[in-house]
Amino acid sequence: MRSQILAALSIMALIATGLTLGLVGGESHADEPAAEESSSFDIRDLIPAGPSGHDPSKDALFPLQPYALIPALEGQVAYGEVESAPDLEQPIAYSHKLHAGELQIACEYCHSGARRSIHAGVPETGTCMNCHKVIPTKDRPELQKLVEYHSSGKPIPWKKVHDLPDFVYFSHKRHVRGGVKCQECHGEIQDEMTVAKRVNTLQMGWCLDCHRDHPKVDENYGASAELRRAELKDCLTCHK
Ligand code: HEC
Ligand code: HEC
Ligand code: HEC
Ligand code: HEC
Ligand code: HEC
Repeated sequence: MRSQILAALSIMALIATGLTLGLVGGESHADEPAAEESSSFDIRDLIPAGPSGHDPSKDALFPLQPYALIPALEGQVAYGEVESAPDLEQPIAYSHKLHAGELQIACEYCHSGARRSIHAGVPETGTCMNCHKVIPTKDRPELQKLVEYHSSGKPIPWKKVHDLPDFVYFSHKRHVRGGVKCQECHGEIQDEMTVAKRVNTLQMGWCLDCHRDHPKVDENYGASAELRRAELKDCLTCHK
């Protein structure tokens, strides 16, 4: 009985060794140096690059990129490299340059959540109609679309320009009340943009760089600024 078990175990061990060799062997190519063969099998090779396009094997912090595990969301997660971000076609050719620039409508008139919640929010059609109910729409297809959305009762399906992964905690309220200006994170949107474009990566390094030196931390916390700075780089501040 005992010898049978031992025999079975050694057969299993042989099979396991064979499998391991088979896997390593399967990855190798005839024209590659032999030394690379043993290190060529890396779980990270199996993970596709995320929307930011960076090579996951270069990411020292984290071998698995969470968005790679949810392929359905790929391309919707709007953060990462700015250059490779797609130009979004929005349902209405709304212009920040006209409304926030020339007409000088305050950002918070439309993005009214910024001071009191996590999300700045995108305005309801009703906010647009406060003015547009009296602006003529004749020969202006973009305004006709606006009126159609309004009378249909359906929200305008604006596409997201910024979208952090869900494992990050970010709050507009904290920043806006702390005196950080919209433009520091979103660019001179009122001078330069029709529909919004993302001008920063929203990556961890970007957050940490600003948390390290922002003058508002000294202004708001005086003698305890150093303590606050330590808090602002604590992992749990942004990863709850
Ligand atoms: C505070 C007033 C006000 C609000 C609020 C407002 N607009 Fe306007 N909008 C204007 C004015 C004024 C014009 C310029 C009208 C003109 O040229 O005669 C304009 C022009 C436009 C145009 C350009 C029309 C064209 O073809 O030239 C679009 C599109 C537009 N608005 C969409 C919107 C949308 C979408 C919203 C809501 C997110 C909005 N507006 C909110 C005042 C406003
Ligand atoms: C410290 C940087 C920072 C500041 C300051 C800031 N934002 Fe944002 N904003 C972000 C980030 C990061 C996101 C993405 C948030 C997410 O996906 O959860 C975002 C998202 C948004 C969105 C998309 C909808 C939403 O709420 O998620 C709007 C609109 C917006 N910001 C407007 C504003 C306005 C208006 C101001 C100023 C009153 C402002 N932001 C100030 C960083 C900032
Ligand atoms: C342009 C500068 C700037 C950028 C960029 C920035 N922050 Fe901040 N953040 C600040 C400042 C300044 C404070 C402190 C405000 C205060 O308390 O007065 C702060 C505070 C916070 C707080 C509140 C912490 C607490 O304990 O209340 C969180 C959370 C936070 N930031 C997350 C983020 C994340 C996540 C990002 C990147 C997506 C980011 N921030 C990017 C300047 C910035
Ligand atoms: C009249 C209303 C209005 C005003 C005023 C306005 N916005 Fe917007 N904002 C919009 C609308 C509508 C969108 C959605 C279309 C787009 O992405 O451009 C938007 C989108 C954005 C986004 C991108 C949201 C996303 O999807 O991530 C940011 C950031 C933003 N606005 C910042 C600002 C800032 C900063 C100001 C002030 C300088 C401002 N807005 C003034 C109506 C407005
Ligand atoms: C000021 C906010 C902030 C702080 C503090 C912070 N992070 Fe992050 N972290 C982020 C943001 C934003 C992202 C998502 C964007 C990205 O991938 O860079 C992120 C992503 C990550 C990821 C996933 C990386 C990837 O490639 O998907 C890991 C792991 C991580 N953080 C670990 C940490 C650890 C450990 C600490 C403490 C030493 C920390 N973070 C502190 C904001 C922060």
